[in-house]
Amino acid sequence: MKAVVIKCGGSVLDELSPNFFEAIHSLKKDGYSPVIVHGGGPAINAMLDLHQIDSKFHNGLRVTNGETMEIVEMVLSGKTNRQLVRLLEKNNLNAIGVNGSDGKCLVADYINKEALGLVGRVTYVNKALLFKMIESDLIPVITPIGASRDGYRLNINADYAAAAVASAIKAERCLFVTNVDGILINGEVVKQTTASEIHEFIEAGHIYGGMIPKVESALSVLTEGMNQVMIVSGKKAFYHQGGWEGTAITNKAGVVG
Ligand SMILES: Nc1ncnc2c1ncn2[C@@H]1O[C@H](COP(=O)(O)OP(=O)(O)OP(=O)(O)O)[C@@H](O)[C@H]1O
Ligand SMILES: [Mg+2]
Repeated sequence: MKAVVIKCGGSVLDELSPNFFEAIHSLKKDGYSPVIVHGGGPAINAMLDLHQIDSKFHNGLRVTNGETMEIVEMVLSGKTNRQLVRLLEKNNLNAIGVNGSDGKCLVADYINKEALGLVGRVTYVNKALLFKMIESDLIPVITPIGASRDGYRLNINADYAAAAVASAIKAERCLFVTNVDGILINGEVVKQTTASEIHEFIEAGHIYGGMIPKVESALSVLTEGMNQVMIVSGKKAFYHQGGWEGTAITNKAGVVG
């Protein structure tokens, strides 16, 4: 089985183009089994604003207390997950929504309870559950919420959740679908880059904000042995006739997987 983990950014959910769904059909036709993890940043911010709850971030991660977690779960599980499953089904792709904290799909541990509250990192992925869905020709659409060992739900950055799922199921590829064409430097898409270049881009301030957890996640799956990770746009056909469009991040310069 060739799995491909696709992290679908909350930033682009409202703008996913027909080409995006065509690309998923092409992947399936070429023997890939897609597994999707979705984000929901803008929708969570909008709902927190509506409830007059401040959004606080620490090193790019959302500080999450009990009240914020209620909103995070309501929006991710009740809105963005539903929206994406519905869109996939509408485009003739069989999909099934999975709340990450159900069935121990994602088990998580606190990153730093004092500083971040209910924010976790994935410690275990229920691979068997995901494989059963894949075998039934369903695309799992996973909400990045984890179950903690002490019975709480933890908020997980969707980029980190996707990387954890990709490593656990030994996916062939991991794609980060977002609202830009890839890593942009001075307005130009970088077609191919490496870990050392990415560190330089961060140092120079060319990569910032939401792109940081994305490249960190990309680099973490590369160190787990995956050949290539890509950052692609959800507004375009990121895959067509075996060719990819976006930024390819590889272990070494010149190696395209
Ligand atoms: N060098 C860069 N190239 C491209 N985008 C960059 C760069 N540095 C920072 N960014 C920002 O990263 C953003 C993408 O990350 P963001 O977290 O906002 O979206 P997402 O991860 O797709 O959605 P969500 O977090 O809701 O799942 C871009 O819209 C852009 O503003
Ligand atoms: Mg993000």
